[in-house]
Amino acid sequence: MENVFESQHPLVKHKLTLLRSVQTNPKKFRELVRELGALLTYEATADLATSLVDVTTPMAQTQGDHLKEKVGLVPILRAGLGMVEGVWELMPSAEVWHIGLYRDEHTLKPVAYYTKLPIAPTVAVCLILDPMLATGGSAVATVDILKNWGVNKIKFVGLIGAPEGIQRLHEAHPDVPIYLAAIDDHLNENGYIVPGLGDAGDRQFGT
Ligand code: PRP
Ligand code: URA
Repeated sequence: MENVFESQHPLVKHKLTLLRSVQTNPKKFRELVRELGALLTYEATADLATSLVDVTTPMAQTQGDHLKEKVGLVPILRAGLGMVEGVWELMPSAEVWHIGLYRDEHTLKPVAYYTKLPIAPTVAVCLILDPMLATGGSAVATVDILKNWGVNKIKFVGLIGAPEGIQRLHEAHPDVPIYLAAIDDHLNENGYIVPGLGDAGDRQFGT
């Protein structure tokens, strides 16, 4: 599908396998979410615009590239929080704007409980961070919020996507590229991704 990118990087695949394992404890799980967040963001930001700036090295004057656009990280609470630290290691000046959504366990619809964005956008590009793209409801709601805020350059960076969620996000917002470590098989009757990794929030926070 156009605008959907499944990482083919061996490091990503290796770490994702460790992440999936039921034997991985919360400490290791958090470490892997952080590392995978950084690796996936590296792939997702390959087309960020740069401008030429002057730089003086100890040897000479030259020119180099400088990121042109201000990047905002938008973790979807709770599970997306774990990806922020890894991305911040790559882009320490990125602003972070939190969006709180949880899935109603009966309807599977996202329920918004926290959105604190300034009136006007302060960034040009938003990276939505959330490990799981299941039905796609949370991701679509977040893109809606960001577009209403006034940001039009948005990318979704996740770890595992179900075909159902990818389809839904792509249909609602075909302009939003989706970067994932893996595309899994299906959703079960409770809306969980199979084989997936279970509940990404519970596994990070030990709940
Ligand atoms: C998880 C996950 C996504 C959402 C995906 O969050 O982190 O935000 O489910 O499901 P969807 O694609 O069907 O909307 P959850 O609702 O479990 O909240 P939590 O992160 O606070 O545990
Ligand atoms: N949210 C999760 O944390 N895991 C799933 O498999 C689906 C939604």
